[in-house]
Amino acid sequence: MSSSIHHYAVIFLCLAAAIFSVSSAATFKKPKPTAFLFPIRKDTKTLQYYTTLDISSRENSVQLVLDLGGQHTWFTCNAEVLASFKAVDCHSRKCKDYKSTSCMRCGSDPAVNVGCTDDACAVDYRNPFNTREIGRGLGEDALFVDSTNGLSVGFNYQSPKPFPFSCLESDEYLIGGLSNETKGMIGLMNTTTSLHAQLSTQFKIPHKFALCLPSTSDFILGHMFIGGKPYFYPPYNKDIGRELITAKLVRYPVSTANVFSVGDPLDEYFIDVKSISVDHKIVAFNASLLSINEEGTGGTTLSAVTPYTTLVTPIYESLLSAFTKAAALRKMKKVSAVAPFGACYKAKSVAKSQTGPVVPYIDIGLTGGKQHWRFYGANSMVLVKKDVLCLAFVDGGSSVRTSVVIGGHQMENYLIEFDLVTPKVGISTSLLFRNSTCSQTRLL
Ligand SMILES: *[C@@H]1O[C@H](CO)[C@@H](O)[C@H](O)[C@H]1NC(C)=O
Ligand SMILES: *[C@@H]1O[C@H](CO)[C@@H](O)[C@H](O)[C@H]1NC(C)=O
Ligand SMILES: *[C@@H]1O[C@H](CO)[C@@H](O)[C@H](O)[C@H]1NC(C)=O
Ligand SMILES: *[C@@H]1O[C@H](CO)[C@@H](O)[C@H](O)[C@H]1NC(C)=O
Repeated sequence: MSSSIHHYAVIFLCLAAAIFSVSSAATFKKPKPTAFLFPIRKDTKTLQYYTTLDISSRENSVQLVLDLGGQHTWFTCNAEVLASFKAVDCHSRKCKDYKSTSCMRCGSDPAVNVGCTDDACAVDYRNPFNTREIGRGLGEDALFVDSTNGLSVGFNYQSPKPFPFSCLESDEYLIGGLSNETKGMIGLMNTTTSLHAQLSTQFKIPHKFALCLPSTSDFILGHMFIGGKPYFYPPYNKDIGRELITAKLVRYPVSTANVFSVGDPLDEYFIDVKSISVDHKIVAFNASLLSINEEGTGGTTLSAVTPYTTLVTPIYESLLSAFTKAAALRKMKKVSAVAPFGACYKAKSVAKSQTGPVVPYIDIGLTGGKQHWRFYGANSMVLVKKDVLCLAFVDGGSSVRTSVVIGGHQMENYLIEFDLVTPKVGISTSLLFRNSTCSQTRLL
């Protein structure tokens, strides 16, 4: 009896397995993705952060420097190896949506001619590392992306529609200054061609993206999420996306025609900062520097292509003096400054903690002035040589356009979400404070 039950059970299991495998082959559909995940690496030579896109085929990975102030995606490539690459016609509706400047004229210049298509939808690119600009045609090809549930990597999807980017001739002119691990840049501004805008419209997911920049170049990577929370960073076991402090995104009041040839007032991501303080004391400077005037001068932006936060001279000088005083109270031993930094200390005179060297807190007061983005030593200081720790803020000069440019070093190991619907930026507490970091292995 028991053996026959056993027998039936085996038959049943076999049948069930057979039915399941037939039905999974015939009708299995991947679930609708809710968010996507991209790796972020840091090049410790150039201090640039870059990600990987799989374009044209799953095997064709392209490394691209992240630029929050870039409008489109561009890289050097050979259009002929991109199996399904197609130029976008400059007379099309799509080209209008992509905010094109004109129709591409390839001419006979061999540098321009390789892979160039006459009448392609022309757009302008700028490389912030060599401040060069060129106009090139936009094309499109398939994009392959990994989904995520906020913790691990899920299924890989092909985008329903091709992704727009420019395939440039292999020429040093535009890529000069980029990390030599990369072939171009990915623009993360709020344009119709941006990766986050494309994925959010193509997959109907929330128009949000988040960066978690790594502080090291080790094999464990940081991440960019597209589609919104949850964001999990073990060993901390709560969704970091529910604990963000927020700052309004401020609309740039003037045309960016001086920077790009496009006349629209969409620019980088400016946030509403109200104050800066050191060890809970407000740093004294003219607060009008924190708002953007009619000429577009002033305000605070976030920039992954700026290694260290850069301040307009009056703010820099006040911060330096406030920090120096607070450091002296904490008995930090000052040593000669190492350019471009203005205040350096003997590292041995500073205690260490899970959030880096124990130094005066620097707080950026956000909307309403009640919340602040706190920088601990890991973000406010940099070890420039053995036993020399410097305040990792730089004097940008007195005529900079933007008063506060928050740089990569200050963004590392925070989860920073750009919500383009509300619109606002959400910032986590330092993941180091949660005994975690942005560098995490995300397994299948
Ligand atoms: C990048 O540059 C470094 C040093 O400048 C060099 O050692 C390395 O081989 C280069 N890598 C590539 C891929 O060219
Ligand atoms: C702050 O700067 C603005 C603009 O330059 C100026 O009009 C104002 O008088 C300054 N305020 C103080 C208190 O210096
Ligand atoms: C981003 O672009 C979308 C679509 O063009 C627009 O609806 C949204 O308001 C933009 N967000 C910001 C913050 O500019
Ligand atoms: C982080 O680790 C330290 C020491 O290992 C421990 O004392 C602290 O409670 C931990 N903090 C959190 C938020 O887990």
